[in-house]
Amino acid sequence: MIKISPSILGLASERLNEVIDVLNMSKTDLIHVDVMDGKFVPNTSFTIEQIKNIFQKTTIPLDIHLMIEEPHKYIKEYIPYAEYLGVHYEAVKDCENTLREIKRYGVKPYLVIKPNTSAEEIFPFLSHCDMVLVMSVEPGFGGQKFIPKALEKIKKIKKYINENNLNVLVEVDGGVNNVTGKEAVTAGADVLVVGSYLFSDNDIMDRITKIKNL
Ligand code: DX5
Ligand code: ZN
Repeated sequence: MIKISPSILGLASERLNEVIDVLNMSKTDLIHVDVMDGKFVPNTSFTIEQIKNIFQKTTIPLDIHLMIEEPHKYIKEYIPYAEYLGVHYEAVKDCENTLREIKRYGVKPYLVIKPNTSAEEIFPFLSHCDMVLVMSVEPGFGGQKFIPKALEKIKKIKKYINENNLNVLVEVDGGVNNVTGKEAVTAGADVLVVGSYLFSDNDIMDRITKIKNL
């Protein structure tokens, strides 16, 4: 079954608590937490304090997506709260060592690629990853439109994973709804990050079920 990782970016703090209560009662696999530094992307988001709060309010594992420069310097801060910890290929200086370091702490590392980064660039590092995240929008903001060329990249990455017998999940993030989500799953995605599609509707549960059953 498809895994869902709801992206809680942009929810006002009062709504965030309510949403986490709903997610706790749902079949959500992960909670996607975006971290932004205002430099790698022109926006900021959750602080460590807020992440700690989210972590204390749920037993759903956190999928922490770091959109920050020089992520290796900050990894340790996020380790206590993460099940999966993702760093951008475009921001990392030494990919293999950064992924190994995350793993040494007992957390599942993943690489993230922006829309203009090719799938082939990350092939040499896939054996060090537990997951790969293909961005289907330019990182930085929720509510953008899915970029269809992400589908081709998902296909290529999935093919490489299968041909090399790797145990790596493929996640997609940005503009995912019931239609684009279906296309991503057909292309080979295992985990769908879903933000505005879930939270623009009052019936979050119903939308989670729709995505899980794609
Ligand atoms: C964008 C973030 C996403 C975003 C997804 O940079 O990484 O996680 O919140 O939101 P939607 O689903 O609205 O595109
Ligand atoms: Zn994200």
